[in-house]
Amino acid sequence: MIRIRPFRAPADYQALAPLLGTTVDRLDAEDAALPATDALTTGPDGRLTGHGRIRLLAEDRTGRPVGYATAWRAPWTPPGDLASHYALATPDVQPPPAATDVLPPPAGVPATACTRIPRAGTLTSTDVLLPLADALTTWARTAGATRLLTELPDTRLDALPALLDRGHTVDAHIRTASTTLRPSPAPLPEPPAGIRFTTLATTTVTDPAQRLHALYLATLPDNPGFADALPDYEQWHTEVLAGPAFRPDWIHLAEHTGRLVAVAAAHATPDPYTCHLTYAAVARPWRGRGLARTLKLHATDHLAHAGLRTAHTEVAAANTPMTALTTALGYTWHPGHHRLVLPL
Ligand SMILES: CC(C)(COP(=O)(O)OP(=O)(O)OC[C@H]1O[C@@H](n2cnc3c(N)ncnc32)[C@H](O)[C@@H]1OP(=O)(O)O)[C@@H](O)C(=O)NCCC(=O)NCCS
Repeated sequence: MIRIRPFRAPADYQALAPLLGTTVDRLDAEDAALPATDALTTGPDGRLTGHGRIRLLAEDRTGRPVGYATAWRAPWTPPGDLASHYALATPDVQPPPAATDVLPPPAGVPATACTRIPRAGTLTSTDVLLPLADALTTWARTAGATRLLTELPDTRLDALPALLDRGHTVDAHIRTASTTLRPSPAPLPEPPAGIRFTTLATTTVTDPAQRLHALYLATLPDNPGFADALPDYEQWHTEVLAGPAFRPDWIHLAEHTGRLVAVAAAHATPDPYTCHLTYAAVARPWRGRGLARTLKLHATDHLAHAGLRTAHTEVAAANTPMTALTTALGYTWHPGHHRLVLPL
């Protein structure tokens, strides 16, 4: 039997921290940075706007937390959308069965959709994830959302058929990769003729932030992993150039005659020795000349000299050039996630 109940802060931080691989202090700090109350609104076109969230905990029949799910929208989330996230405990053997092995469906879910839990043995991802997904879907419908977006970790792919049955569709398969950062023992390749490598801390181009935004806008649609609406300047600035993860000297740029033609952006993570390579792009006329490869080599060498030891990145499996480049640079591939969309 899986019981779904609202997440209670701060009492449940202790249970949630291991599920999310974080600490109670970090959860506390992240919560403190978010608005205390929801303000979900409806836009002029009738679509969901504003901000708000739901957080749910799944407990097994002994009351042990085995899963967590949240759905939310931020003020900049596209109208109508809600994002969601699941974290599941590793499958574990359950104690002897209780009286029932059929879950009562959450409010609004047809009884035929209730989840059968094996009477004994191991809880599968589906056993825990499906009741959480049903509860999130009910909340999303009630909130008036038109799409519920989620990420299913590749380690939980056994739950994919059940989610597809519920109407989710696969939007993209995102792979993750990492590399150990070391100062390059050999001289780095030179940039193509006429190109100068700088960072956002050293560039002398005028209006670098506006130009960088323009480069993102021009290149994001060519990334098969990008599905959102193009971010306006404010939204992009909030995500890329503001906040505790932003370091101006980690945003590596390639310049040609006062224009930005490529970017390799890294952001900080809670681990001071680990960075996240968040985006790399080359303006269309400059592609296929090894510019992304050379700029990334310079960027990771610079990051290694700055004391970073590990870099993580995410690449859409359908992104052929970035997959080729990431493999050629010797990164190690890890399980990623499938991005799912549920029209409501
Ligand atoms: C991905 C991107 C940055 C590559 O830029 P680039 O300067 O053309 O790349 P490079 O010339 O350095 O080549 C990188 C690798 O991709 C390969 N490649 C380039 N274009 C390719 C294509 N159309 N099909 C297959 N492979 C391709 C190259 O052979 C090279 O592989 P190698 O290192 O094994 O020789 C560029 O295509 C781009 O800006 N795409 C849009 C934004 C994007 O998707 N960013 C990635 C976000 S994770």
